[in-house]
Amino acid sequence: MEVYYFTFTGTSKQIAEEVVKKVGGRLFSINSVKLPYVCWLFLSFFPGLKLKSSFKPPTSKRLVVCFPKWTTNCPPVTYFFSWLKKNGYSFDEVNLIISYKGWKKELYLNHYSSVLKKLAKKVNFYFLKQKNWKEEIKNLVLG
Ligand SMILES: Cc1cc2nc3c(=O)[nH]c(=O)nc-3n(C[C@H](O)[C@H](O)[C@H](O)COP(=O)(O)O)c2cc1C
Repeated sequence: MEVYYFTFTGTSKQIAEEVVKKVGGRLFSINSVKLPYVCWLFLSFFPGLKLKSSFKPPTSKRLVVCFPKWTTNCPPVTYFFSWLKKNGYSFDEVNLIISYKGWKKELYLNHYSSVLKKLAKKVNFYFLKQKNWKEEIKNLVLG
């Protein structure tokens, strides 16, 4: 299993590290330009917008991807999935672990369900509240 993360304030990295501790696997980051909060907020309003990110291409058929919930879209993560699709990757299972403050997860669920269509046979969503993720992750069973 390969565990990827993208983070702005560090939570998703901590979550990814915890997942590796729990289930094993290797940790990889999705790297993007560093922008201030207001810029990310603005960009996150455009569904489907991609912003170039860099990462090690996966070699496994099962992925975990940890990232934050941003309004309608997280552009570096959308780029990651689009790049994989464009380059002919396919997965048996992708587990998305999304940290958020607690608002409007349905928007994201719909968006990333459509982004991952045809890329993965099975997609699982796990939303963890930023304030409480250390507790919530204890009950998380992947797959
Ligand atoms: C640009 C931006 C947009 C956000 N939009 C939402 C949102 O729509 N709903 C929500 O619950 N939290 C939202 N948040 C809060 C983050 O999802 C939350 O703080 C997350 O745990 C941060 O993860 P990170 O530390 O890995 O960056 C937003 C944060 C940012 C920076």
